[in-house]
Amino acid sequence: MAIRLGDMAPDFDAETTDGSINFYDYLGDSWGVLFSHPKDFTPVCTTELGGFAARKADFDKRNAKIIGLSVDSVASHKDWQNDIKETQGTALNFPLIADEDHHVADLYDMIHPNANDTLTVRSVFIIGPDKKVKLTLTYPASTGRNIEEILRVLDSLQLTANYQVATPVNWKDGDDVIITTAVSDEDAKTKFPKGFKKLKDYLRITPQPNK
Ligand code: BEZ
Repeated sequence: MAIRLGDMAPDFDAETTDGSINFYDYLGDSWGVLFSHPKDFTPVCTTELGGFAARKADFDKRNAKIIGLSVDSVASHKDWQNDIKETQGTALNFPLIADEDHHVADLYDMIHPNANDTLTVRSVFIIGPDKKVKLTLTYPASTGRNIEEILRVLDSLQLTANYQVATPVNWKDGDDVIITTAVSDEDAKTKFPKGFKKLKDYLRITPQPNK
């Protein structure tokens, strides 16, 4: 069944390049980013895994644990790691799940039979510390993901979890934000001491409150 925003992220046990894991234990109290790859030794996936490894410190800074998945074996993943290091210049520094029997792919609906019967699509799930799903993204095999966008959404999710704001089009960390309609003008004056611009009753802009 498809995973929807607000659903509890399914827990699972799996074999990975870092040994056996339980997903919830791996996440602990952190945010999580789970992403699937169609297959080992494929070009786009090779660049993506190098890309995630190169940005791992940026996920760490956001208290987010990353974990990849592909439907091949641990032995295959370990061979592939050498190519990732050689061609992308960064060694894998997070676990890659070996989902040979598709039990994780099935739990997260990562196989879309009308796209491909056996390979996973490029799914991304952001999971909050409460283990609820906060974001789902699905890309086709032919399109590599944009890691900057995943980090940007994490920034937005973490900001909006703590303040009564939402983030506008193309927002990035440090830009102005929108005060949610749940906050009255009167309350906004105290909650957002930097002030706000009222463009419409429903559209009030304020500097990012935690900057
Ligand atoms: C790739 O990662 O390049 C890829 C994987 C599966 C199908 C097509 C491309």
